[in-house]
Amino acid sequence: MLTAPKRKIIEELVASSSREELVWLSGYLDGMLANDLPAQPVSPKKQTPEPVAVTGSRKMTIVYGTETGNAKKLATDLATRAKKRSLPVKLVSLDQYRLTDITREDNLFVVISTQGDGEPPAAAKKFYDHIHHNGFRLDHLKYSVLALGDTSYPLFCKTGEDVDAQLQKLGGKCIIPVRKCDVDYEAEAESWFNEVLQAVEHSAGTAPAPAVQPAAEPVLKSNKKLYRAELLASINLHDKGAAKETYHIELAVAEAVDYLPGDSIGIVPENSDRAVQSVIDLTGIDPDKTVSHKGEQFSVRALLRRKLNISNLHERVVKKYAELVQQEIPETKMQLSDLLRIYPLRDAGQFDELLQLLPVQSPRIYTIASAPAMHADEIHLTVEKDVFTVNGKEFTGLCSDYLGSLQAGSGFEFFVQKNKRFKLPAPDKDILMIGPGTGIAAFRSFLYERDATGATGRNWLFFGEDHFVSDFLYQTEIQNWHATGLLGNISLAFSKDFPNIGVHHKLLEQGKEVFAWINSGAHLYVCGQKAPMSVEVENALLSIIERYGGFTAQETAAYFEKLKSTGHYSKDVY
Ligand SMILES: Cc1cc2nc3c(=O)[nH]c(=O)nc-3n(C[C@H](O)[C@H](O)[C@H](O)COP(=O)(O)O)c2cc1C
Repeated sequence: MLTAPKRKIIEELVASSSREELVWLSGYLDGMLANDLPAQPVSPKKQTPEPVAVTGSRKMTIVYGTETGNAKKLATDLATRAKKRSLPVKLVSLDQYRLTDITREDNLFVVISTQGDGEPPAAAKKFYDHIHHNGFRLDHLKYSVLALGDTSYPLFCKTGEDVDAQLQKLGGKCIIPVRKCDVDYEAEAESWFNEVLQAVEHSAGTAPAPAVQPAAEPVLKSNKKLYRAELLASINLHDKGAAKETYHIELAVAEAVDYLPGDSIGIVPENSDRAVQSVIDLTGIDPDKTVSHKGEQFSVRALLRRKLNISNLHERVVKKYAELVQQEIPETKMQLSDLLRIYPLRDAGQFDELLQLLPVQSPRIYTIASAPAMHADEIHLTVEKDVFTVNGKEFTGLCSDYLGSLQAGSGFEFFVQKNKRFKLPAPDKDILMIGPGTGIAAFRSFLYERDATGATGRNWLFFGEDHFVSDFLYQTEIQNWHATGLLGNISLAFSKDFPNIGVHHKLLEQGKEVFAWINSGAHLYVCGQKAPMSVEVENALLSIIERYGGFTAQETAAYFEKLKSTGHYSKDVY
């Protein structure tokens, strides 16, 4: 095949190359042939550290540290190109980056400038310190750094160089040597982009398929499989001055969870130690005593903590308790500890009867905010802290309080609640998502999934909250999706900045275009508050269809029914 001189060159190259260089070369040639691309000349500047082939996952995390926006612009450009090639990408500013994630990254690309006198940008300081001062290992990490700077400074691109050297020191494998850019960075950046994308795209291996769990796993009574989760992070998504708390909750799961965007998870909350202890104190019961409940044996403490509902008891239960203690008790929702304090049991012998009348704790359902294609081994939720008043007294919802009180590393179980009627359409179909407040959860999942899988359909998000400044949940992610083109249209309604303006008003304002989308086959989704939000949205959609479709009321109703029956209109409201 080869002429003798060419063959000699190849033999010499092979003989003088390390194993890693041969793997890299093989991937390089393979990719070149697959793509019919001309070989890129290899820059003579690239010497250390030795590049290695990307093997395994094609998932890219691109982080940027910027002061005046150059690094952000370049990182966004790289993310956009990667998405065009259907590579799964996470793009995040270093001040938003969860530092503990670094040990779990596969392919990390850092775009970072140097500021001050050879210092990192303020937004990257925590990351810079984290990798320099914490003794973890990054043996599985593959990375590359694009360093921005200015040759007129004595410490040209020092931060990028430091980051590169430190990632390598921690065990990371540099797949493309650090690229240093002067103020006219375009050409250097362009060539780094190409090398990075080529290296990731031609990743020699593929990510291992998620382990499929055998059927004989622990299951709920309802036959739902139980998964074990560990809390990774719980972050309040509101800024200072907000009147509410909504938490972005990240759970680590040790095995592949069988779910799709649009599904939810069910969590059975545990009662707080304080609530359980007050029941024990008020009844004088031995917490270690073994009791039988629905055919299973538990200690009293475990039963009260994990199985029974003891807070905010339903009127029906209060009525049964009144019969047990033979007292007149107003039929209103009450805490078990209040009942025991005000209307004590007549004797210790009634405790067993009390246990029988308490209802079993029911699971709370939360829409999943992560996406299977993007967040392997994790489940994300968007949980608003539920605060309500009973008889003038303020209470917090049991499960939101439970999740909010968990410390990182705490474990609990959940099951997946499938929602067959709330699913993404084919990748080339347009979608219109209406999800104010925690309704954003399902659409965060949708958007990450579409992003990771390279879906080509257009995406339009309607989001609303109280105030722009304090309540724009997932603002950075939404803006990044807009910047990279995934989210072509965003319509926002902040009802306390512009009183009484909700997402339904935004739909009406853009009625003509909304109808054009619907009429050309877009799929509509509503997620979040049932009343009044979903009702107002539905009324807005009906009037848009009537007006811009030129229909009678009857024709409008028929059109809308067809949207529902053909799966073009779906709701997940609560
Ligand atoms: C106050 C200041 C200090 C800087 N110090 C350095 C430096 O020490 N070394 C260097 O290479 N570049 C230095 N630069 C240049 C920036 O790194 C360069 O302009 C870069 O493109 C900025 O990227 P950014 O917009 O992402 O922050 C400095 C720039 C400014 C404004």
